[in-house]
Amino acid sequence: MDHFNYRDGQLWAESVPVAELARQHGTPCYIYSRATIERHYRAFTEAVGNHPHLICYAVKANSNLAILNLLARLGSGFDIVSGGELARVLEAGGDPAKVVFSGVGKTSAEIRAALEAGIYCFNVESEPELARINRVAGEMGRTAPISIRVNPDVDAGTHPYISTGLKENKFGIPMTEAERVYQVAVSLPHLEVKGVDCHIGSQLTTLPPFIDALDRLLALVDRLSAQGITLTHLDVGGGLGVSYDEEKPPLPAEYAAALRAKIGDRPQTLILEPGRAIMANAGILVTEVEFLKHGEEKHFAIVDAAMNDLLRPSLYGAWQQIVPVIRRSGPERHYDVVGPVCETGDFLGKERALTLEPGDFLAVRSAGAYGFTMASNYNSRPRAAEVLVDGENAYLVRARERVEQLWQGERLLP
Ligand code: LLP
Repeated sequence: MDHFNYRDGQLWAESVPVAELARQHGTPCYIYSRATIERHYRAFTEAVGNHPHLICYAVKANSNLAILNLLARLGSGFDIVSGGELARVLEAGGDPAKVVFSGVGKTSAEIRAALEAGIYCFNVESEPELARINRVAGEMGRTAPISIRVNPDVDAGTHPYISTGLKENKFGIPMTEAERVYQVAVSLPHLEVKGVDCHIGSQLTTLPPFIDALDRLLALVDRLSAQGITLTHLDVGGGLGVSYDEEKPPLPAEYAAALRAKIGDRPQTLILEPGRAIMANAGILVTEVEFLKHGEEKHFAIVDAAMNDLLRPSLYGAWQQIVPVIRRSGPERHYDVVGPVCETGDFLGKERALTLEPGDFLAVRSAGAYGFTMASNYNSRPRAAEVLVDGENAYLVRARERVEQLWQGERLLP
């Protein structure tokens, strides 16, 4: 459930009409709802209940400082994958002691920055990375907290580009290698082995792959314990899907309850890394119809948002609902909703039944996760404004980029 609803024929973000925000801030424009973000975050924590746990919000889903700050205020930790994301978390007032650092290519500089900040744990994805973290920690006279990201080889049943837990994927250490790598880790002097980690993919809409992966993690925890390696946390990653269309993914509460039931009274702290489930339906992308073009075979609604603003439809063929901000009556046509970028793959949605006039505003729903964070400046398009609504108030949390900013840092030859 989110807080973008129709009242009197027009779309509201909490208690603010979306059309008013579009006029005030211009389009394309991302609009987020604070109440929705907080509701989704709490759904996770409440379901895990009194089992020791830490929610590490996946920063890559939406890294706007205002959003990170809201989550930090709720007590959230953060899952980061770069030095840039670490810097954002710190800038937003996040607690470094609640940060886990994932990703297959951590540089020495990023490892150093994370150790200096005092993060909770590195999720290590390979043996060379283990050696690198040990070396950097040694140089700094520190001990680095680590967990091993294992690849449980379960099929998440999601889009191949966002499936990460199969043998053929680049992520993690194969389960068959895991015990040996843990033995290497405990032998390295500047590492402290804390936990185990996995992440099998994103936009999962059923529970069984999560449960399969957890079963395999728990079996590993038991084998390691028999070898004298005691783990203090269990990080099951993110990946819970949302409803973009007709999908009926488990609710965060159902998901967390299922994990908790499996874990029983084991002492390990449960770490979750949700991104999409918190942010996707907490945001919309608002765009204005520039032209309607009626071709022989197709009707096109040419709008002012494009693949550079929201890449998911172009990159994954992702389907996101597109709705009018102010409903109008009249016959519907089936439109391909396309942007101004010079690529055939530049579309936000295809064959959408809409009643439109030029100048109308449209909202692409479920755009709060992997929307702005995947935006680019392709075709020299400044990135969109971002607005965060809180009840009757709306705050500009990122100004629209100005064209001069696009070539900041570029230099002419002498
Ligand atoms: N933890 C790790 C290690 C991850 O790699 C990811 C996402 C997450 C947590 C958060 O997953 P979530 O709860 O959001 O599913 N751009 C794609 C999604 C890529 C996800 C990459 N990893 C999309 O727009 O669908």
